[in-house]
Amino acid sequence: MIAKASAPAKTILFGEHSVVYGEPAIAGAVNKRAYITIKESDCEKTIFRAPDIGFEAELMSRFKKYILLKGKPGIIRYILECLYRVHDHSPIDITLNSNVPIGSGLGSSAAVTVAMLAALYRYHNIRFNKKSLAHDAHMVEQAVQGVASPLDTLVSTYGGLVYLSRNKKVEHFNVNFNVPFVVGYTTKHGNTGKMVKDVKNLKTRNPKIINPVITSMGNLTNYAKQAILKGDFDKIGELMNINHGFLDVLGVNTLELSRMVYNAREAGAIGAKTTGAGGGGSIIALCPGKVDEVASAIDRDDNILKIRFTRKGVSSRVYRD
Ligand code: PMV
Repeated sequence: MIAKASAPAKTILFGEHSVVYGEPAIAGAVNKRAYITIKESDCEKTIFRAPDIGFEAELMSRFKKYILLKGKPGIIRYILECLYRVHDHSPIDITLNSNVPIGSGLGSSAAVTVAMLAALYRYHNIRFNKKSLAHDAHMVEQAVQGVASPLDTLVSTYGGLVYLSRNKKVEHFNVNFNVPFVVGYTTKHGNTGKMVKDVKNLKTRNPKIINPVITSMGNLTNYAKQAILKGDFDKIGELMNINHGFLDVLGVNTLELSRMVYNAREAGAIGAKTTGAGGGGSIIALCPGKVDEVASAIDRDDNILKIRFTRKGVSSRVYRD
């Protein structure tokens, strides 16, 4: 029997950092995916392979341990946590194929976790639905990372554009937001935990200045929601630019991030901003009709991905011999 599952990566359009303080956020699934295949092992061992990143390991899922055979560990803790929770520890072969670059700020760990859990549930014939899967994947991320926002696993599971309201209600946008954009990313990874802590400290030292900024970021996200529903790209772009300024106030932008943002705008992007935690990581530039120009402007100094939003969330099936 072979079980296969795939799940999309995500990008945050609006609301990073302010979402930590209960403000709304908007994130969307993108057309880059993680693919997991699980089959019975032909030896007595459980082997995990990720050929795209040149990684291979033998896993002892019962003990959440592994023996490194090739490459850098990275994603392995998420795989082990999923196995520990769901698998009966019989020997299996796991392959991860992914076109989500690690460290590109697109939430590769959530995409891998969602795909891995869905494949395992299929393999063991365990019933699940999107709600339970998103919840379980969030628990895995939380166990591995300590803290995790539910947004990444939610978007990787459901696909499409998701609005998380002030009272944590999830709304799925029923729009075809099929506009091209460019993600620019640096090789310097941002540390989400550290950036969240830095913002908290800044807020504690300067509450009268930072609190209203965070409230404004929430209001901005709500305006963005209306603009998305109307398909008003100029407004969305304008709000992205304002949002980048707010993220500057919070101190999470870096020279590289702002360089990419300004290069993108100069090359014709209607809006560009840091996406995710900042301190390194990536930016997102909305650039209908100007994708190639924007991509080559960013590509001069940094890395790019041309991306579209997708409505396709997790998908999984089982093949019996
Ligand atoms: O680093 P990312 O892409 O996972 O984004 C983090 C977003 C924050 O709002 C900074 C943190 C959070 O948990 O929501």
